[in-house]
Amino acid sequence: MIRYLTFALNCYPTMAIRLVSQTRGVLSKMGGTQTATGNLVFAVNGERFELPTIDPSTTLLEFLRSHTPFKSVKLSCGEGGCGACVALLSKYDPVLDKVEDFTVSSCLTLLCSVNRCSITTSEGLGNSRNGFHAIHKRFTGFHASQCGYCTPGMCVSLFGALVNAEKTNRLEPPPPFSKLTVFEAEKAVAGNICRCTGYRPIADACKSLAADVDIEDLGLNSFWRKEHSKEEKISKLPVYDRNDEVCTFPEFLKMEIRSGISFDSKRYNWYTPASVEELQNLLNFDEGTGTKIVVSNTGMGYYKELEPYDRYIDLKHIPELSMLRIDQTGVEIGAAVTISKIIETLKNENQHEFRPTDRIILQKLANHMEKIATGFIRSTASVGGNLVMAQRKYFPSDIAAILLAVDSTVDIMSGHQFKKITLEEFLEGPPLDSNSILISVKIPNWASVGKLSPENNTTLLFETYRASPRPLGNALPYLNAAFLAEVSPTKTSDGVLVNHCQMAFGAYGTKHAIRARTIEKFLTGKLLSSDVLYKAIKLVRAAVVPEDGTANPAYRSSLAAGFLFEFFSSLIDSGTEISNGFSNGYTSTSLFKHSKPVQNNNQHYPNKIPTMLSSGKQVLQLSKSYNPVGEPITKSGAAIQASGEAVYVDDIPSPVNCLHGAFIYSRKPLAWVKSIKLNQKPFPDGVAAVISSKDIPDHGKNVGSRTGFGAEPLFADDQTHCAGQRVALVVADTQKLADMAANSAVVSYGMENLEPPILSVEEAVKRSSFFDVPPFFRGKPVGDISKGMDEADNKIVSAEIRLGSQYYFYMETQTALAIADEDNCIVVYSSVQCPEYAHGVIAKCLGVPAHNVRVITRRVGGGFGGKAMHAMPIATACALAAQKLQRPVRMYLNRKTDMIVTGGRHPMKITYTVGFKSDGKITALQLEILIDAGIAIDVSPIIVPNVLNGLKKYDWGALSFDIKLCKTNSTSKSAMRAPGEVQGSYIAEAIIERVASTLSLEVDSVRNVNLHTYNSLKSFYEGSAGEPVEYTLPSIWDQLAVSSSFNQRIEMMNEFNRRNKWKKRGISRVPIVHEVLLRPTPGKVSILNDGSVVVEVGGIELGQGLWTKVKQMVAYALSLIQCNGDGDLLDKVRVIQADTLSLIQGGLTAGSTTSESSCEVVRLCCNILVERLTTLKEKLQKQTGNVQWETLISKAYMQSVNLSASSYYIPDTSSNSYLNYGAAVSEVEVNLLTGETTILQVDLIYDCGQSLNPAVDLGQIEGAFVQGVGFFMSEEYLTNSDGLLVSDSTWTYKVPSMDTIPKQFNVEILNSGHHEKRILSSKASGEPPLLLAVSVHGATSAAIKEARKQLLSWSSKDGSESIFQLDVPATMPVVKEFCGLDIVEKYLEWTIASSNN
Ligand SMILES: Cc1cc2nc3c(=O)[nH]c(=O)nc-3n(C[C@H](O)[C@H](O)[C@H](O)COP(=O)(O)OP(=O)(O)OC[C@H]3O[C@@H](n4cnc5c(N)ncnc54)[C@H](O)[C@@H]3O)c2cc1C
Ligand code: FES
Ligand code: FES
Repeated sequence: MIRYLTFALNCYPTMAIRLVSQTRGVLSKMGGTQTATGNLVFAVNGERFELPTIDPSTTLLEFLRSHTPFKSVKLSCGEGGCGACVALLSKYDPVLDKVEDFTVSSCLTLLCSVNRCSITTSEGLGNSRNGFHAIHKRFTGFHASQCGYCTPGMCVSLFGALVNAEKTNRLEPPPPFSKLTVFEAEKAVAGNICRCTGYRPIADACKSLAADVDIEDLGLNSFWRKEHSKEEKISKLPVYDRNDEVCTFPEFLKMEIRSGISFDSKRYNWYTPASVEELQNLLNFDEGTGTKIVVSNTGMGYYKELEPYDRYIDLKHIPELSMLRIDQTGVEIGAAVTISKIIETLKNENQHEFRPTDRIILQKLANHMEKIATGFIRSTASVGGNLVMAQRKYFPSDIAAILLAVDSTVDIMSGHQFKKITLEEFLEGPPLDSNSILISVKIPNWASVGKLSPENNTTLLFETYRASPRPLGNALPYLNAAFLAEVSPTKTSDGVLVNHCQMAFGAYGTKHAIRARTIEKFLTGKLLSSDVLYKAIKLVRAAVVPEDGTANPAYRSSLAAGFLFEFFSSLIDSGTEISNGFSNGYTSTSLFKHSKPVQNNNQHYPNKIPTMLSSGKQVLQLSKSYNPVGEPITKSGAAIQASGEAVYVDDIPSPVNCLHGAFIYSRKPLAWVKSIKLNQKPFPDGVAAVISSKDIPDHGKNVGSRTGFGAEPLFADDQTHCAGQRVALVVADTQKLADMAANSAVVSYGMENLEPPILSVEEAVKRSSFFDVPPFFRGKPVGDISKGMDEADNKIVSAEIRLGSQYYFYMETQTALAIADEDNCIVVYSSVQCPEYAHGVIAKCLGVPAHNVRVITRRVGGGFGGKAMHAMPIATACALAAQKLQRPVRMYLNRKTDMIVTGGRHPMKITYTVGFKSDGKITALQLEILIDAGIAIDVSPIIVPNVLNGLKKYDWGALSFDIKLCKTNSTSKSAMRAPGEVQGSYIAEAIIERVASTLSLEVDSVRNVNLHTYNSLKSFYEGSAGEPVEYTLPSIWDQLAVSSSFNQRIEMMNEFNRRNKWKKRGISRVPIVHEVLLRPTPGKVSILNDGSVVVEVGGIELGQGLWTKVKQMVAYALSLIQCNGDGDLLDKVRVIQADTLSLIQGGLTAGSTTSESSCEVVRLCCNILVERLTTLKEKLQKQTGNVQWETLISKAYMQSVNLSASSYYIPDTSSNSYLNYGAAVSEVEVNLLTGETTILQVDLIYDCGQSLNPAVDLGQIEGAFVQGVGFFMSEEYLTNSDGLLVSDSTWTYKVPSMDTIPKQFNVEILNSGHHEKRILSSKASGEPPLLLAVSVHGATSAAIKEARKQLLSWSSKDGSESIFQLDVPATMPVVKEFCGLDIVEKYLEWTIASSNN
């Protein structure tokens, strides 16, 4: 049965004519006749759309979000880098009567290019009215959605893979499964970013649909209990019925296509030439206008050209550009062919025209291409677009490099001229002019090229390489390479002769990929030996030299050396024992008898780590004492988040006349702002105003955010004080116009009479530029530092550590919508963690009484601290503009602006002196910490105690410190998840590691000896240590050693390291102690007359499951009335949006404790209600026996019982702070040639007290840990010399993705039983687990240590002096540098010297 889903539309497109057929699947009334209009026609979720006109630069995402009710496609990056906007695009071929389905990034797809296509979004898969799709249900049940902003994109990405798997002729799997494989299922979402979950539950949700899944391998879910049998588990999965699947291409559109839809190109300025001649005519037809040649427009993701074009020429419909031809001479690929199609073709086993060796070349090219971008980009990105970007704009292309190595050629059309040239000539030639077209590219069949030597004992070797921050793509490479060599054994010796070779390197900071001719020449005819390879590598060093200004130049050229070594070294008869990743696809002919990869027999370390599949184990102890509190119920609203129906601020339909805002920000750190000019005077069309500090009403104030410590201005006044400071707000008709105008605005700066800016903490110290830290936040030293230092046998004096910043990377960027109301009032919808504070700031800025302002927040698409203080200026700027212009104003920051203006974690410099005994026991620690707070005080004073709390996890004997909060000319830094604590925890580990290295002790033994006793804990955490029985860390520590097989794995790891030269493993166990503080919070519970319950709390739902826990608590607390039917209360409770006039004093959702304090306040409210209802209930009980909940409530209404109760929870000061404990063991593997770190396994135990909801807490633990992995391993916050953020996009700022999480992630939630002073014995989970990610960094250090020992041994040194401090983040270049940038040279020097001796 075919199912079409229908929608009751609540908003009608302004431009689109939507014609919905009465009966789905039947040609709509206008049918074929409407084609005469030549309009743009397409379908969205089975609905017909017809547009008489549209700006051709409109993207599919813009259209869907602004003109349809389908808001599930989310804008998050706007550059193809995150997957939040993924939609399924389906094309119909009327000749073959076939539908082709593939996912696309709707933020880059131009609307005109979807003419005659059908689009399916997550709402189209299913929804709350027509029933959710199995995918939605699985995401919900596997707890795979937290804030939900990534979820619709994830669902559609998975659906795309599912639809295509179902088209295969694989065996029919039994009902709850599909034809997907687990690998395909997980890979389907590899390009989608999620900042909340840590991916493991998402992987489980995806894999649950795969036919080959091992059901026991799937993690915690709401479908089954652990004790269920395999069959029961399978039967409980939500049904996926392939016979009742969503139809991706409606019949009416097929019929229209068959009857021929015409398209009036001219009207849309969108031309779709159907032949080369038509294209030539169009190119010749010069109207003096800007023409853009497009295939799929994904290049916009990188170049973000903002200038409008007058006309577009779409190359996709020209047969010569769309063909893919294979014959004996090679593979010819039309320039418009997509990367996905090429992969499919090259992987096809049935290419009989080719010899097996040539087929290997094609397969390897395809394997490499699978690492380019993501599935939803490759599906549309064309090879021609890629090569033209590489040729014309020096894009660091993979395709150019790998095709260069195999002598590819290209066909070019310039005017009426056609020419065939080599790809090398093409890349080296002058940039292709705008009238020239790349027609096709040809990969020659190697056998036909004639370079093969006639001897038949030769072997052709081919391999491609790519080093990038993410192994499976969506990360540009630091360098890529492809090597082809024809080799043969020599008759006279046992060696290998290079008859011919070709090598290409690219993307390393050069204009285009190059052929390394000098090396090719050098190697040709050579007998391979260490000496020859050594010389070749020297030539590589000379050839692969990044241009000035390229980041990590030495690293990139070391990669080139490493790859060449990897390619040839196993052919050298020197007894090298090389394993892991050195297979190169060699067949084991006699040629390679000496070089077969060493097989590792160790079962625990399979020779090849799978690149993707991740898996995990969860251990939880459920508590039934307060049912349904403690149940792992699914997150409230998860299903509507998955279908995309959940409403975030930017999903609220724009009111009539709505304007859109975009910030103009400063690019100078300290300067006079002399003028701000837009590129056209007075304003470009559609721009309504430029709002600056001058527009603040007389009775208002220039304030953009405010904390208890101070305020930050909304806009720079006469002076700007940091790069990234808001200077003004452009307000325009659309967000795109506002962004374009703001981007092209010219701010003129003056430097007269200004001191140089302060751009470092050292400079701040020199100029005494500090913020005051109130005494309460300064922390107290512990013990007698001089005595402690005197007791020490050893000291490390004035050692230094530096830590950088981290950006929040919530998927929903900052956003607000302000609507001016009657009587000088204003309503602001804001995605903010503290509506109450935003409310106060808006009132101050506008100069109105607080009761004139109302701030409403329903849900936030991820916050992590970034939507606390830094959301306020967005809400305030919208309010100011709305008040001034008396029109609604909304703003949705583009990713770049968000990254630049929002600040992030506090960078710091730490100098320490530590004294310790010979057994590693530390006796005294003295610290000087300089914290870079940026330009405004924000909440920075809290970082001081937080750093101390994080580092006090060990018993330092005595501790003294001097911490300064430096005021610098950089964006104000704010709280980010575990603010200060994560740095403190890292500082502690860095010191422990340094002490261990100095003493040549195992780091773990030094950790052990410095763990707190309860007594030392009490002296370090005065007032929050609790009772001795609450100190669970020692038992967690021991339990983890057992559950993770810590000691056995150390032995296995040592064995691995002994046997492997080019990969080293490290393991690290770390403890954490994390103090949290409960804060007052308000709540209100009201029972409506049908017995349903509505709840308001101060806390905001950010994805952390606050609403879910609150619902559980309300259901539990009201059930104490003990009526019949109170068991179903959970379904009767709805938590509603925060409204600052309805519930005041909401405070700040932060610090991990808002969920529990919100739970406590609703419990208090429920207690009041239960008390009010008890007399009536008892009376009714006497009269009728059992009392139904609904009856009780309706009687209570009749008797005017007050059924709304509010309360304000004020935590007891004697117990409002408490400690959280956990520990983690992480094991990593480092590739010494590339610096890549793979997290093999993480085992973690975390004490949640009696968890309020173990599923929610598990999500917090895993998500926080992975966010911590980002901080420690990959997220590089880079600024230019003016302090302006330059890693300002998904291209340059790399948060963890599915392929970089632990391969095995085992989490145990410890139920540490009764805690008298905790809320229903629960403990926090939001932030502390983030600190545990330091174990990954520690394990990386341990692996590097092994590498350095080995390196030293090659220099005939013993390796004992291997003391180093690994930076944070430990990115690939950083790790490689510590492993040795010249490691292969050193190794070869050693082997050459050894063989000469
Ligand atoms: C998120 C993301 C990640 C990526 N990662 C990688 C990566 O890791 N490695 C890699 O190699 N690439 C990567 N790419 C680049 C990607 O391969 C290109 O964007 C894509 O191939 C361009 O194809 P297109 O059809 O979208 O071209 P378009 O965007 O339509 O065109 C690109 C440019 O080429 C011009 N053009 C297109 N075709 C022709 C032609 N036949 N003749 C003349 N001019 C033409 C256009 O005018 C335009 O200037 C990534 C892209 C994205 C968005
Ligand atoms: S918003 Fe389109 S990929 Fe990120
Ligand atoms: S749930 Fe994935 S980004 Fe929040």
